[in-house]
Amino acid sequence: MSDLETMIREWDGLGTVVRFDPLTGTWIFIALHDDTLGRPMGGTRMRAYPTPAEGLRDAQRLAEGMTHKWAGAGIELGGGKAVLAVPRPLEGGEREGLLRRYGRLVDALQGTFSTGQDLGTTSEDMAVIARETRFVHGRTEGGVIDPGPYTARGVLAAIRAVVRHLFGSDDLAGRTVLLQGTGDVGSPLARGLAAAGARVLLSDVDQERVGGLAEELGAETVPPPAVYETRCDVFAPCAIGGVLNRETIPRLACRAVCGSANNQLDRPEDAELLHERGILYAPDYIANSGGAIAFALMGRKAPAEEIDRRLAGIGDVLERDFAEAAREGLSPLRIARRRVERMLGKEEAA
Ligand code: PHE
Repeated sequence: MSDLETMIREWDGLGTVVRFDPLTGTWIFIALHDDTLGRPMGGTRMRAYPTPAEGLRDAQRLAEGMTHKWAGAGIELGGGKAVLAVPRPLEGGEREGLLRRYGRLVDALQGTFSTGQDLGTTSEDMAVIARETRFVHGRTEGGVIDPGPYTARGVLAAIRAVVRHLFGSDDLAGRTVLLQGTGDVGSPLARGLAAAGARVLLSDVDQERVGGLAEELGAETVPPPAVYETRCDVFAPCAIGGVLNRETIPRLACRAVCGSANNQLDRPEDAELLHERGILYAPDYIANSGGAIAFALMGRKAPAEEIDRRLAGIGDVLERDFAEAAREGLSPLRIARRRVERMLGKEEAA
């Protein structure tokens, strides 16, 4: 892993805001990737990384993902993301102190960057940040709402599009979907899938969390190391990124991959490995755009029906991308990227 200086200098985004918080030993990275369509907006992730450089790398890659997410959804916002690279899990007053100082930093940017919930942060955390700045999305009179259920609704529409493309019908009854991660998005997604009659397999590094949900839904659980080999129709990564790589792709026993995690592919070329194996890949930044879309629309006071329509529309977008990919013999990621680059006024991808 290269050092912070090189990573900040060589990144092809707009720039990176860096602050070290001495009171908690936290590195704060706000990566601003692109503002072609609008001002950067993206979630705030909190995690203990092995090194600060890995936190910075995550922020930069996630910011780029947000650029694609907004462009893919046709929403006039830019790509950005924040990472709070904590030295260890923070609780209580320490956590609140960090969040308040971070909130003041976001406020000082005067809207150049606005944020919301992401992996490792909660809606309560967002409410703390919102005491310092108005540039937090999902604020209501009662507090800050959780984007997870909206993201889950979008992923469910995406999974239906996948199943329709593969099997000719979007009926989920009897289809097996394996979820990696049962957190903020995975749990509501699992409930939606179970209600639609799917056979749901659950996996999570947090045994307690996965056990409770499995019991609630009468679902089976899969131990984390066995996830990649487990036979299923759809594998849904709903946790960390980088899980689709040279090592895992040859092991997959699924027909399709469609989940909520950001940056599921280790490298863009891994989409081609999936394509060669005949595994249909729903580009993550399309499948997981529900929360972002819902929050952007709420910020514009859009009616609930419009939000419903846009979440369902994620399935239609994917269905068109899949059909185009099949016609051209290309991976769906190539098709999605071409559309996004057109939106951003860039050259078509080679
Ligand atoms: N963090 C979520 C995502 O990556 C949702 C979100 C996006 C929340 C932007 C707020 C702002 O899409």
